[in-house]
Amino acid sequence: MERITEKDSVILCPVSRVSGEITVSGDKSISHRSLIFSCLAEGSSRIDNFLFAQDCVDTLNVFKKLGVKIKKDRAGALIISGAGRKGLKKPRGKLYFGNSGTGMRLMAGVLAAQEFPSVLTGDASLSGRPMGRIIRPLARMGADITATEGDHAPLFIRPGTIDPITYKSPVASAQVKSCILLAGLFAGGKTVVSEPYKSRDHTERMMEYFGIPVKIKGCQVSVTGGGDWQGKCITVPGDFSSAAFFMTAALIIPGSTLRIKNVNLNPTRTGYLDVVRRMGGEIKITNKRELYNEPIGDITVSSSQLESVNIGRKDVPRLIDEVPLIALLASRAKGKTIIDGVEELRKKESNRLHAVSTQLQNMGQSVEEQQNSLVITGKQGQLRGAKVESFGDHRIAMMLAVAALNAREETSISGVGCVDTSFPDFFKIMESVIEK
Ligand code: S3P
Repeated sequence: MERITEKDSVILCPVSRVSGEITVSGDKSISHRSLIFSCLAEGSSRIDNFLFAQDCVDTLNVFKKLGVKIKKDRAGALIISGAGRKGLKKPRGKLYFGNSGTGMRLMAGVLAAQEFPSVLTGDASLSGRPMGRIIRPLARMGADITATEGDHAPLFIRPGTIDPITYKSPVASAQVKSCILLAGLFAGGKTVVSEPYKSRDHTERMMEYFGIPVKIKGCQVSVTGGGDWQGKCITVPGDFSSAAFFMTAALIIPGSTLRIKNVNLNPTRTGYLDVVRRMGGEIKITNKRELYNEPIGDITVSSSQLESVNIGRKDVPRLIDEVPLIALLASRAKGKTIIDGVEELRKKESNRLHAVSTQLQNMGQSVEEQQNSLVITGKQGQLRGAKVESFGDHRIAMMLAVAALNAREETSISGVGCVDTSFPDFFKIMESVIEK
């Protein structure tokens, strides 16, 4: 199916359908949190199905630099000897977070409360992303943290004492919320964060699982800091956002049916499912259960005739990472779809509004980028094989790969190496479900 050409590019041919039963890799957000809470716990923890993708590996290496003992056992599980809340060691040199906004923003909350200084760096994409959104609340908590011109990484953190705050976040962002809650664990007293709409709540759920006193009331979360917690066992569920690439392939390629097992179904993440159902897509959930305080289940999806939908600002946090895929679905649907309130997408690993519109336009689709929205006019002819690019953004690369499977001619995608940041097995799994 695929021919790797020069390094970092791929040529994909159209397929007749996708089918079969798959599992996807562990969830990126939950892998990050399981690592952070285990490293700061007293005693040892075991993490099964940890996502060994570059983003999580970069954060893992940061913890090793901070003196935490982390091993991988024969079964591939992570065994962590927790340093305790006060046991991190002064690192030698800078702490490198690669491409990971989650790694840098969450760890800034932890590092701001340490008795040693640290410098947090990242790749070119991460160094262009806004950090003021975490610097402002952390500074209000008493942290001594500065950034480089324009509130960008590198971040410079000097030893500080952290006080609790009550903070009203202007953005619905799990990274901002989690950064403050993590810093709050080092403050004596109650830290309260509220946000305009509820963002993913994996941090809160994991705090509950570790027995940390956290309270959730609508869009407001509070945590009482100053206490310690014990290490635990966790199995990371399949990543819903990774599963969504394969769901999209099955929905748009006629004659397809795909079953994806053990996927995280946290309601703060599954806005994509609601949108697909509103579009007339056939999706069934079976075997629903709870795993380590997170809901999971199996998803069966079949190719469907889709209709356009309108998506508003309040829907966006629950589908923030699936907007590129929803744009692709909308291009295959009857009618005009408006996805509104998505300006946050300009601040992701790439400017995703620009990437989605220009690259789907290259494939012959009508996708218009506006200030805060995407407007897609569906069914303007089949997807055209084309030369497209990922802008170094994993989710754009994978969305284009799915589009390529449904195109009329072969498609060449440049910049696919970035897929490793969240889903190194993506092309291998794709190969296993396609029929030529
Ligand atoms: C994430 C939160 C989201 C999401 C990102 C992962 C997390 O970002 O886009 O892929 O793990 O907390 P924001 O919280 O900044 O919207």
